[in-house]
Amino acid sequence: MTLNTSPGPTGSGLFEGTAWHYARYRPTYPKPFFDDLVERFHLDGTGRLLDLGCGTGQLAIPLAAHVAEAVGMDPEPGMLVEAARCARAAGLTNVVWEHGGSADLPGELGQFRMVTMGRSFHWMDREHVLAALDGVVEDNGVIVLANDSCLVRPTTAWQKVVEDVQCRYLPAELAPGEPLPGRLGSAVDHRTHEQVLANSPFAQVDRSVYEFDRTWTIRPPPPRSGSTAPICAAWKSWYAASPPPARWPPNSV
Ligand SMILES: C[S@@+](CC[C@H](N)C(=O)[O-])C[C@H]1O[C@@H](n2cnc3c(N)ncnc32)[C@H](O)[C@@H]1O
Repeated sequence: MTLNTSPGPTGSGLFEGTAWHYARYRPTYPKPFFDDLVERFHLDGTGRLLDLGCGTGQLAIPLAAHVAEAVGMDPEPGMLVEAARCARAAGLTNVVWEHGGSADLPGELGQFRMVTMGRSFHWMDREHVLAALDGVVEDNGVIVLANDSCLVRPTTAWQKVVEDVQCRYLPAELAPGEPLPGRLGSAVDHRTHEQVLANSPFAQVDRSVYEFDRTWTIRPPPPRSGSTAPICAAWKSWYAASPPPARWPPNSV
């Protein structure tokens, strides 16, 4: 396993300092989703995977066992350090962690049978990255956009507080209101991913929905120094003032 973090671009800063939290608390995806990818796209231990916007490896790590080589790419160096740590802990030896982002594609990473973007496509210039990936994805290869529904679309008072804390620390243009499908490519880009894909080299789209239960445990954050310390402190003081349920949904086990 290798970790290539230098030289390279710097991240946008939005995710700076978050990698520690991502590695420990970011939920991965449900098993039926991974099983479906493996079966549908014949991931038989050959071929290469690129996970773009890999974060701490929520897609690259579970999929690595099904390909010859996985490349996790992210503009935030801290994400790659944590991803490499998690991959080592999982005993993986066929993952390469590359510092970079969508603007660096096509680059010289070679060809891939599958390119995944997990909860990351909306941060990219979507048209640019799809055009660039046309030269990177093998004939008969695929791109996979994975998203999930978000805990903090508020339906209860405590979820509203979570969202308020989050909004207070997001850049103003990203904070309130409904998130746009494409956030960074253009501030006014309301097109859905499907609309953007329809005018791209990846116009043949299949959409699959996997329904599953997820139990959240809710507790105060551990003390942290660095850029996420203020948000941890805000969360902790709210938690002390009005403790939320220890689990969500409340009757889950
Ligand atoms: C919400 S996290 C998703 C992490 C992981 N893939 C997952 O499924 O949980 C979004 C990631 O996209 C990365 N990112 C942001 N802008 C990007 C870009 N232009 N190209 C590639 N990755 C980007 C961020 O650094 C961050 O690690």
